Amino acid sequence: MANLTSYDLMICLWVIFNFSIDIGEAKETQKPTSLPPPPAIFVFGDSLSDTGNAIAAFPFLADAENSPYGDTFFHAPSGRFSDGRLIVDFMALAWRFPLIQPYFSNIVPNFRHGINFAVSGATARNVTEPVPFFLPFQTDHFVRFKRNVIASLKSNKKSASHVPAIRSFEDGLYMIFVGVNDIIISLFANKQPPSTVVKNIIPQVLEAIAKAVQDLHKEGAKNFMVFNIPAIGCTPLLLTLASPGPYNSTDAMGCLKDYNELVRFFNHELEKVLSYLNLQLKESKIMVADIYGFMLEAIAHPSKYGGFDEAVKLKACCGYGGGPYNYSPLVSCGKDPEAKSCSDPSKYTSWDGLHLTDAFSGKFVGEIMKESSSYLRPFKLH
Ligand SMILES: *[C@@H]1O[C@H](CO)[C@@H](O)[C@H](O)[C@H]1NC(C)=O
Ligand SMILES: *[C@@H]1O[C@H](CO)[C@@H](O)[C@H](O)[C@H]1NC(C)=O
Repeated sequence: MANLTSYDLMICLWVIFNFSIDIGEAKETQKPTSLPPPPAIFVFGDSLSDTGNAIAAFPFLADAENSPYGDTFFHAPSGRFSDGRLIVDFMALAWRFPLIQPYFSNIVPNFRHGINFAVSGATARNVTEPVPFFLPFQTDHFVRFKRNVIASLKSNKKSASHVPAIRSFEDGLYMIFVGVNDIIISLFANKQPPSTVVKNIIPQVLEAIAKAVQDLHKEGAKNFMVFNIPAIGCTPLLLTLASPGPYNSTDAMGCLKDYNELVRFFNHELEKVLSYLNLQLKESKIMVADIYGFMLEAIAHPSKYGGFDEAVKLKACCGYGGGPYNYSPLVSCGKDPEAKSCSDPSKYTSWDGLHLTDAFSGKFVGEIMKESSSYLRPFKLH
């Protein structure tokens, strides 16, 4: 296995799209949900939520600007690291909103139902590699945005049609989905062993997420949905990079034990931190969305959710066409034309080795929108 340089990793984590698609027009009818629609959604995170910020901020750099990214739903690269829609898109559709537009949108944006600050490659911690749009910077952008909205509503009533209503800042849903880049970069680009990441990096990531929740709460936010870290030990990217190596032992499902254990530790600590904040912060309602649990379940029982295929449960859909995981950092999706999409991405959980398929994101949102879903845990109200 060739060494992955930090530059390669940066590019492979980067995302993105073609902003010519009018994402405000996506229409899809889905069943009404038991989770009532908030007046607006505010999104913070990385490539798992970025709907076009990275391509606007760093044009022509991301693999995901190229086909076959976007093939499934948008039928063109759409600014998303997926064959189709992301989790945040399915949430918007479930609530019958237009898709939530990126903060850096440069064509007639409409932020009535929310705004997305997520940037591919972003970390939770204040570090500028691989991209300078880390979580505290995203929350600063939010604060600036909110002040601009308030000023603009005061001076010009017309802006009301394309910015969130003032009450949305209090009653809206704040979605935070970040941290996986901090961990993967520390493990692979910086070559730290999992024990060092647990000791030195994880506490900083948790602190950054807690600080973001506190800072947003100071601005009036009450409702939070915080996503835990996915089962990276089951991703084709990590399965490929880890072997051969000291952390290559796998469990019965074929997932990397050490990396999933690290994530389990993180997720456990995250729930402790959030339940504490839920008690501390006045009127807050914090929920944890358990993407880790859903990913393990989808890989352990691929047919349970209809459509995933046992034979490809650990393979990337878009890849070089070989090996046990269909992943190679040298021939990666969107970067190298030799990397091709599989014929039916809906059978796969992994799109490009790290990012999720449209099918996976859709099924996950279907689960968390169910009444008393075991994958969406609200902390007890006080
Ligand atoms: C990030 O850290 C630098 C150096 O400590 C600090 O100057 C800067 O204000 C921080 N940025 C944010 C957005 O917190
Ligand atoms: C795991 O890595 C070691 C080297 O550290 C190698 O000898 C062994 O073959 C690898 N096992 C697998 C299953 O890749």
